[in-house]
Amino acid sequence: MVSKVSPKVNPYEVEGKIDYDRIVKDFGIKKLTKSDLGRIKRLAGELHPYLRRGIFFANRDLNWCLDEYEKGNKFFLYTGCGPSGPIHLGHLGTWRFTKWLQDKFGVELWFQFTDDEKFLFKNKSYQEIQDWTYENMLDVIALGFDSKKTHFLVDTKHAGIMYPEAIKVAKKITFSTIKAAFGFKDSSNIGSIFYTSMQTVPVFLPNVLRNEKRPCLIPLGVDQDPHFRISRDVVEKLGHKKPAVLHSKFMPPITGLEGKMSSSFADHAILTTDTPKQVKKKINKYAFSGGQPTVEEHRKLGGNPDIDVSFQWLKYFEFDDNKLVQIEKDYRSGKLLSGELKLILIEKVNSFLAEHQKKREQAKKQIDKYLYKI
Ligand code: TRP
Repeated sequence: MVSKVSPKVNPYEVEGKIDYDRIVKDFGIKKLTKSDLGRIKRLAGELHPYLRRGIFFANRDLNWCLDEYEKGNKFFLYTGCGPSGPIHLGHLGTWRFTKWLQDKFGVELWFQFTDDEKFLFKNKSYQEIQDWTYENMLDVIALGFDSKKTHFLVDTKHAGIMYPEAIKVAKKITFSTIKAAFGFKDSSNIGSIFYTSMQTVPVFLPNVLRNEKRPCLIPLGVDQDPHFRISRDVVEKLGHKKPAVLHSKFMPPITGLEGKMSSSFADHAILTTDTPKQVKKKINKYAFSGGQPTVEEHRKLGGNPDIDVSFQWLKYFEFDDNKLVQIEKDYRSGKLLSGELKLILIEKVNSFLAEHQKKREQAKKQIDKYLYKI
């Protein structure tokens, strides 16, 4: 694959080799420092592996949010899902981390399903998007969020409470701001131009509903940041606090380290509903390897875990640092072969999915507990 000279990263396009330092500069976000991590560890009692491993790597206003927390003003979490297709492993990282934050800080989560967004942006019918909304909810519930502290908002179903706030946001955003942020053209549909207003609403809706002034903390994939760059200016004008944000890198696609995982190519993403056999086949057949072409060369020269997708994915699934370090060492030295590394990953993913699929089945009876009651 030819590397694109200028990579694109925004909510609607993630292409090319991703330079996270450049994103930090271009987006005006801050890398998480050692002292930030130390503070999270002190408050949470431990550090999630995704923080130790730099998967969550940057932030906006995290320290303000934690200052408030320490003063007794707990934040609420806000994240979301655009329901346009099946959930794959790349979606789960942010949500698993969000669940950890909920547990460690004992806070509420507002989870937005943007069925309006996906209807407007994807070439799919309204009914198809509704079906994916249901399917995607099962995956979110399966991750074990506390139903007493988690509230699902579905844009078209909660429109009655969201729309009055969305128009207040929309009135403060110009078309030229939206064009500059997302590259829309005169030919873009007018719903897509309005949409950022809907994604902004949960930043402050809980405070409006309850007459509170809690900080909002948003864990997200860094491609979603442009929405909130706009939101942050606007919500302040409406008398609300700017949200804090924690940014995550993308789980690389199976074919190599460019772009992000997507279910647009069925064989290239591992879906939460895949069977153990499908997982095995996809990883064995497609996972880009940093190994040498022959066993002899591999033993002599060793593999390169830095570009090896199986190793990179293990960072998301093998939470034991000692084991991960040993695997890395053995792969680099040539002791561990590419096929053996893939096998370790396959087993890890399959045992995760076995559990996930069980809970996903049980989730079918639990949706009502999670939907926010108006
Ligand atoms: N737009 C996001 C998507 O396409 C969904 C989303 C809505 C979201 N609100 C969010 C993601 C807040 C992160 C944080 O997936």
